[in-house]
Amino acid sequence: MSDEKRGVRRVFDEIAADFARTRQRPWPEIEAFVEDVPGGDVALDIGCGNGRNVPLLVGACSRVVGVDFSRELLAIARTDNPDAAFVCGDGTHLPITAGVADVALCVAVLHHLPSTAERAALLDELHRVLAPGGRALLSVWAIEHSAFDGERDEIRANDNDTYVPWTDHDDGTTHDRFYHIFERDELRTLLEASPLGVERLDLLNGNYYARLVAPEG
Ligand SMILES: C[S@@+](CC[C@H](N)C(=O)[O-])C[C@H]1O[C@@H](n2cnc3c(N)ncnc32)[C@H](O)[C@@H]1O
Repeated sequence: MSDEKRGVRRVFDEIAADFARTRQRPWPEIEAFVEDVPGGDVALDIGCGNGRNVPLLVGACSRVVGVDFSRELLAIARTDNPDAAFVCGDGTHLPITAGVADVALCVAVLHHLPSTAERAALLDELHRVLAPGGRALLSVWAIEHSAFDGERDEIRANDNDTYVPWTDHDDGTTHDRFYHIFERDELRTLLEASPLGVERLDLLNGNYYARLVAPEG
């Protein structure tokens, strides 16, 4: 694992409790996707964090598995979601059998991967674990997000890589997390290089949301 990726994992471990307190409800875009998909047997939440989206999946599929590389966030997710299973793993090497998932989420994860090759590897893994015809929703922070007002030129000058601080709500300490801030064309090119079909690519509230489908057979 690269130092950059290890750094992302360390920060999510450090901020887990504070992060979880601020991430209690799913975003409406995630609710809309889960309402629209047919559901099925197995759902995956890749980079599940504290598991705030897991209850939606439990309502849609018989078995739900959350994967994350932060053990501290996984511990919170397990406590809050006794109806789901959780495994520790890297999104670029998912500890999941091929072709099992009817539905998958990958919300706000891809932008934490520090290279194009690693981001492509996550998409390859998403394709590998989806059943034929399986559906996924993937989101990333977009360059249009208001958090980057006044900083876009600087971010673009650094190949869209940046660090975004998390400020602890209790003690005020700051923890810098690596982000790759996506441009629409770059995301579309990355998605189209994968075997997954792109059903929709929308910019909503500063995030790109891609609805993806695994090829049949
Ligand atoms: C911004 S949080 C989003 C959490 C959750 N998906 C949500 O919507 O609340 C990013 C999550 O991705 C996880 N993550 C980042 N890079 C990862 C990787 N390479 N493999 C597994 N998990 C990763 C982090 O530990 C963290 O839980």
